[in-house]
Amino acid sequence: MALPKSEYLSDVWKDGLFKDKVVFCTGGAGTICSAQVRALVHLGANACIVGRNVEKSEKMALNIATARAGAKVIGVGATDVRSFESLKAAVDRCVKELGGIDFVIAGAAGNFLASINQLSPNAFKSVMDIDVLGSFNTAKATLPYLQQSAARHTVDPKSLQPSPRGTGGRIIFVSATMHYTGVPFQTHVTVAKAGVDALSNNIALEFGPLGVTSNVISPGPIANTEGVERLLPSHAKEESRRAQPLGRYGTIRDIADATVYLFSDAGSYVAGHVLVVDGASWRMPSAS
Ligand code: HXC
Repeated sequence: MALPKSEYLSDVWKDGLFKDKVVFCTGGAGTICSAQVRALVHLGANACIVGRNVEKSEKMALNIATARAGAKVIGVGATDVRSFESLKAAVDRCVKELGGIDFVIAGAAGNFLASINQLSPNAFKSVMDIDVLGSFNTAKATLPYLQQSAARHTVDPKSLQPSPRGTGGRIIFVSATMHYTGVPFQTHVTVAKAGVDALSNNIALEFGPLGVTSNVISPGPIANTEGVERLLPSHAKEESRRAQPLGRYGTIRDIADATVYLFSDAGSYVAGHVLVVDGASWRMPSAS
């Protein structure tokens, strides 16, 4: 069933903003990433979402395609971001079927609650491999296409007039805020997300001169997502929601809007940045 637009995109964006652009997204069948892609598709983009599960990826692609008549969205399952070859095959298919890559969202992540005592070296490694190596592989496989896209969309440095062709050559990593403070039972995730942030910063510096921008979006607690479901016991959710600085959890639309901003012309000079979209949640004093 098609998701109502008001659930994943604010009314402030121009239709056709991303006309003929192509977005490649890992973890695209997940709640947050699918909303990010859906918003871009609604605004004119075509998309390739990749994931490990074939059925989930293909089903989500069909669902996202309902966001705009004529949208092309392909779901490439059986893709594990931990394998560069697997990812490269998905990138090749995206380029072959959709014609290139203008935007990338590196969203694939692994998470479970485990104390350090319960966390085996292999469990720690699994999350590092999905989050850090997986993000690196995603960047490595797509950066040649992002460079090409950036070259097609250069902003004139004298007039600073945006390219009439729109924007391109941008990557966003989906991170978290947990590593700013540390969170019990999330050692593997906090260490991994710190690595993801560092990766983005380095790409911003190395590829900035080629016109590519790299940024991080760090969602806080987002309603109805696996993150909140897994990390908070159900009896604690209502109290936690009320205690948030803005009195609510975030929505998938909050994250999708931030994504549209960073990929739009309005975000042209934002690079090497971590955009925290959490309603100041991580700044809350702890209960102790
Ligand atoms: C302790 C665990 C565990 C658990 C798995 N392991 N689950 N250890 N507690 N709950 C251990 C296993 O015992 C094994 O170690 C190692 O981790 C690898 O497990 P596998 O199942 O073989 O790995 P794999 O199939 O690759 O699965 C990876 C995974 C899994 C990360 C463990 O959970 C996964 O695929 N997750 C992807 C989906 C996901 O997590 N999405 C959530 C994203 S939400 P041993 O030593 O036994 O071999 C998110 C938001 C967070 O990230 C932000 C919230 C604010």
